[in-house]
This record gives sequence, C-alpha cells and structure tokens, in this order.
Amino acid sequence: MKSAVVYYTFGGSTEKEAARISAGLGADRFFVREAKKRSLLGAFIPGGLQAMMRKTVEIAPVKFDLSAYDRICLCCPVWAAYPAPAFNAMLALLPTGKEVEVFLCSGGGAARKSDAQTRRLIEARGCTVIAIHSIATGTAPGKQKEA
Ligand SMILES: Cc1cc2nc3c(=O)[nH]c(=O)nc-3n(C[C@H](O)[C@H](O)[C@H](O)COP(=O)(O)O)c2cc1C
Repeated sequence: MKSAVVYYTFGGSTEKEAARISAGLGADRFFVREAKKRSLLGAFIPGGLQAMMRKTVEIAPVKFDLSAYDRICLCCPVWAAYPAPAFNAMLALLPTGKEVEVFLCSGGGAARKSDAQTRRLIEARGCTVIAIHSIATGTAPGKQKEA
C-alpha cells in the first residue's frame, strides 16, 4: 500500500509528528504552506475563528499529486478545538476513493467534539476515514511560537 503524509505546521511540532509517522510507514511526506505568512497573532485572530468556521485558506501551489496513493495521512495542529484552517485546504486536495487517516496535534491531546464533523467532511470527498488520532504535543496555546 502506498501512503502519503500531508501536513501543515505553524510552530513545528506537527512537522515532527509527520516525520515520525512517515518514517514509520515508509510514506512520502508533503508540506502544505499557507500562501500568506501568518504571524503568531494571526494564528489566534483570525486563525482560531477561521478554524471554528471551517474556513479554508489559500495555500501555496502544491507540486504533489495524491492520486497515486492508497492511504493519505493528514497531520494538522488544533486551533480552538478545530483543525487549523490549512486542514480545509488539505481536504480539497483529496482525490475521491482514498483511505484517510487524520493526526491532530494539540497541546492537550484530547479528542474533540469537532472530530465528528471532520469525519463527515472527509467522507463528503468520497474517502473512507480510517481513524482520527489525537496527539499531545505538550505545547499549550500560550507557549506557541512560529517555526
Ligand atoms: C491559535 C491556536 C489555537 C490553539 N488551540 C488549541 C486548543 O484548542 N487545544 C489545544 O490543546 N491546543 C491548542 N493549541 C496548541 C496547538 O494545537 C499545539 O501547540 C500544537 O502542537 C501546534 O502544532 P504546530 O507546532 O505544528 O503548529 C492552539 C494553538 C494555536 C496557535
């Protein structure tokens, strides 16, 4: 089975997890970058609100094609109990018919109420959700730094 790990990171902790996951799977790893550089303040305002409203953000053009992969792992930080807005841009990259595994990195690492909607959004892309994992990075919102 050919796997890809697609990730966004603001402070770098999700990147570490994505590296660990891709090494374990022998997967290709792809970074999704927001088109406009976000400040730390911009992560909280409007980033947190954008995450809660499931707003998508413009991302830099991607050079990878996910259609060649069977399983796609999406790794993203949690902002305000929702996946960061870049996650919504990642969803738009999903070809139909893929197995999708989600790794959400947060300070606390608890599962979220928003996970049910996250699952539905992936299913709406015609994909199967294998699991939504919660990873505790130990970096609380107040300790967040830009990478
Ligand atoms: C705007 C913002 C909101 C956050 N909201 C939460 C939250 O609701 N719950 C939580 O446990 N951590 C929250 N965090 C902490 C991040 O999810 C955590 O530090 C994560 O590891 C960041 O990943 P990164 O270093 O890849 O950007 C928030 C961080 C930011 C910047």
